[in-house]
Amino acid sequence: MIPKVHKAVFPAAGLGTRFLPATKAQPKEMLPVVDKPLIQYGVEEAMHSGIQDIIIVTGRGKSSIEDHFDVSFELEHLLESKNKTDMLSQVRGISEMIDVCYIRQKEALGLGHAVSRAKDLVGPEPFAVILSDDIIASEIPCVRQLLDVYEYYGASVLALMEVPKDQISAYGVVDAELVADNGRENRLYRIRNMVEKPKPEDAPSNLAIIGRYILTPEIFECIEAVPPGSGGEIQLTDALKYMLRNRPIYGLKFEGKRYDAGDKLGFLKATVEFALNRHDLGDQFREYLKTVCA
Ligand code: UTP
Repeated sequence: MIPKVHKAVFPAAGLGTRFLPATKAQPKEMLPVVDKPLIQYGVEEAMHSGIQDIIIVTGRGKSSIEDHFDVSFELEHLLESKNKTDMLSQVRGISEMIDVCYIRQKEALGLGHAVSRAKDLVGPEPFAVILSDDIIASEIPCVRQLLDVYEYYGASVLALMEVPKDQISAYGVVDAELVADNGRENRLYRIRNMVEKPKPEDAPSNLAIIGRYILTPEIFECIEAVPPGSGGEIQLTDALKYMLRNRPIYGLKFEGKRYDAGDKLGFLKATVEFALNRHDLGDQFREYLKTVCA
């Protein structure tokens, strides 16, 4: 029987240098898109995919993430006394929605290293990895789409996206063959190889790995086995490539739209589009944008 996925790991110990100075004293994961921090979008995606055990890998200066998912007695008391029931249920909802565990990554030694910090909390089980600076708007949550593949094949599954050639060097890129799969016509791949941040001329395809993964627990041994790679960091892509030697890995071109909110332009695009889609803000914001763009 294929074991179920109960846990999601959120690496959130990076330095967020692309967002300096905003990230000097506050974590990138707490930057709000409209009124919700980036990490909450990811946590809600995990919940809506059926995962309720959340493991957040934090670093120095990240205590606001812990506070965000904790109970805030003073705030709840104030909202209660002012009869602000809607806001109260929103604030309570965050702390009640999930079980969260935290583990430190003392030095930002790379995404692979951050994931390996969660080894003892994950145990010998498959798990999801969610990078909260990728926000994904989709009808079916992206993690749920990957879980559907995992639950059929029992192997690791990565979310893939087509990326223009001039941007490919920012990603891990796969060499992959299409799997004939009736339900997911031309979207499911079996991965043959992968390269972290290749030059455009060396990229094996235009299919990039984005921040959603379902991983089997063998990944931890693979992370331990690989030396530091691109940028001197322990790369998750290198560990996945190592795992390919004796385990299959699938890639799914997910259905939905991904915003790279770890990048300034991507963050602005997410902010504008999410605001336009909000029933309480959209109309007014649309009118305002017309005056700016006229
Ligand atoms: P990024 O590549 O976006 O790096 O990490 P970063 O440090 O957060 O941001 P920049 O590039 O300096 O602006 C992708 C994800 O992996 C986590 C980050 O927190 C982010 O969620 N990460 C990265 C870690 O947890 N630890 C690391 O050592 C590196």
